[in-house]
Amino acid sequence: MLALPQVAKSKVALPCSALDNMRLVLLGPPSAGKGTQASLLSQRFDILHLATGDILREAVAAGSSLGKKAKKFMDTGALVPDAIVIGLLEGKMKSTQSQTGFILDGFPRNVDQAKQLEEFTDLDLVLCIEVDPNRLVERATGRRSCKNCGAIYHVRYNPPKQLGICDKCGGPLFLRDDDNEEIVRKRLRTYEDQTKPVIQYYESIGKLKYVEGEGSIEDVQKKLLDAIVEQWPQLKDAAYGPMPVKKPVVSTPPKPSPQPSQQPRPQHGQGAPHGGGGRSHRGGRGRGRRGRYFGKPGSKGPNKP
Ligand code: AP5
Repeated sequence: MLALPQVAKSKVALPCSALDNMRLVLLGPPSAGKGTQASLLSQRFDILHLATGDILREAVAAGSSLGKKAKKFMDTGALVPDAIVIGLLEGKMKSTQSQTGFILDGFPRNVDQAKQLEEFTDLDLVLCIEVDPNRLVERATGRRSCKNCGAIYHVRYNPPKQLGICDKCGGPLFLRDDDNEEIVRKRLRTYEDQTKPVIQYYESIGKLKYVEGEGSIEDVQKKLLDAIVEQWPQLKDAAYGPMPVKKPVVSTPPKPSPQPSQQPRPQHGQGAPHGGGGRSHRGGRGRGRRGRYFGKPGSKGPNKP
């Protein structure tokens, strides 16, 4: 059972109260643009971006035992067993604590994962990006990701200014082990067999919107925002207004620790350890954060009074 922490809603004022607990899932075939688009949505609506592919790659890079087990599956284009994925997701959530809302990217990937997710949260909207399968191989094999910050590029469609170097942090760009044509085609088959039924399920309960993923990154983002505004017209200004500027995280010199007896108990919504300065979990992109909240069963989504 996916047992993620349930945290009291933050008392910190949010820029737009309507956005404070938006719970989205972004699905689509391999290399459809989920990570690229989820990152933009997370920045626009100030919601947590959780990508299970990235969480798994972090575990692989760290050389943890779960990461080593996961790699064997990832390298063949198969799904990693649920127990591993959910264990890692749970660990990430515990370290993140709470958030203002979330966008899950690449999770759930099969019917069992969808059932487990339902046990702990009530999703607001599932968006599925559709792309012609023939384009997917080209998108995957041309993708380059930053080793430091996880930023995503494409050698043709979204190239970095300097070959092999991340525009955002100067980190080295690399080609993922599973981004060769043979494995991409296997990942596509896995998607057809195991993830399509999840999509059909969300469609059958009226939570799914398809978004056409052809066109430029900006075009696709606009289509996703249109789908969100169609669901929640009150989000029009937030969706189409200027992208919120990421506030720099200001580091202050550490204060001397109080004596153990004087140490206050941390309260949810009152700053550390759950407060601002967290990292997005798409490749560890650093982002300042305000209020934090991760879905509480039965709580209301952004369109609900
Ligand atoms: P994961 O990392 O989730 O892989 P995926 O679903 O195959 O998705 P990708 O990360 O390949 O692509 P994306 O849709 O995010 O596209 P992106 O934005 O990068 O999972 C990897 C593996 O981990 C799985 O195979 C599985 O083994 C395991 N796994 C993960 N989650 C799991 C789970 N829940 N359960 C079990 N196993 C799990 O874009 C791709 C490229 O296209 C980039 O170069 C980008 O710049 C470019 N691009 C994006 N949009 C456009 C556009 N509109 N036009 C032109 N180029 C574009």
